[in-house]
Amino acid sequence: MPNSVIVVGNPANTNCLTASKSAPSIPKENFSCLTRLDHNRAKAQIALKLGVTANDVKNVIIWGNHSSTQYPDVNHAKVKLQGKEVGVYEALKDDNWLKGEFVTTVQQRGAAVIKARKLSSAMSAAKAICDHVRDIWFGTPEGEFVSMGVISDGNSYGVPDDLLYSFPVVIKNKTWKFVEGLPINDFSREKMDLTAKELTEEKETAFEFLSSA
Ligand code: LMR
Repeated sequence: MPNSVIVVGNPANTNCLTASKSAPSIPKENFSCLTRLDHNRAKAQIALKLGVTANDVKNVIIWGNHSSTQYPDVNHAKVKLQGKEVGVYEALKDDNWLKGEFVTTVQQRGAAVIKARKLSSAMSAAKAICDHVRDIWFGTPEGEFVSMGVISDGNSYGVPDDLLYSFPVVIKNKTWKFVEGLPINDFSREKMDLTAKELTEEKETAFEFLSSA
């Protein structure tokens, strides 16, 4: 993927969409924004709870905006326990935590870091950027997917067309593809729609500003 553009500054998704619209000669698939920070945080929360390392957790998904409406989804995530891969819901047996505190902790982690440090997250953001770029360059490992903000096509997971939305993707030959066909339950649907709505509103505000500038 030559001319790969990765946007990190907040509001990262809408900034990325605006950058893409402002540089139409660069294919829109070459733009992505960072939700790997949230993805890594979701893995870490699960790992902490189970007493394993974050590397033992895979296929978490961050849907939507890099904001407090993002939806960290572990319905398809797996964890390695005693050498065996188990679904995260099955391993944890704590649906209340997974649907409650886990979601809000990941959603609010960015704000919590800023509050504690009185500064933006630095090391974890840098690590996440390295992870994101490394996967674009080398591809995702077999059987694994990662989250990144990319342009929606209107055909994937009921997300409206032309939003810079975080999806599960696999990357091969420096090209990302949506992970297709994951079943979405009602709990997830509601949260995915809510973060899409916020992105639609952000997009409208940004484009109003651009057209009046
Ligand atoms: C984060 O999620 O930690 C950052 O996006 C927060 C920020 O604005 O630096």
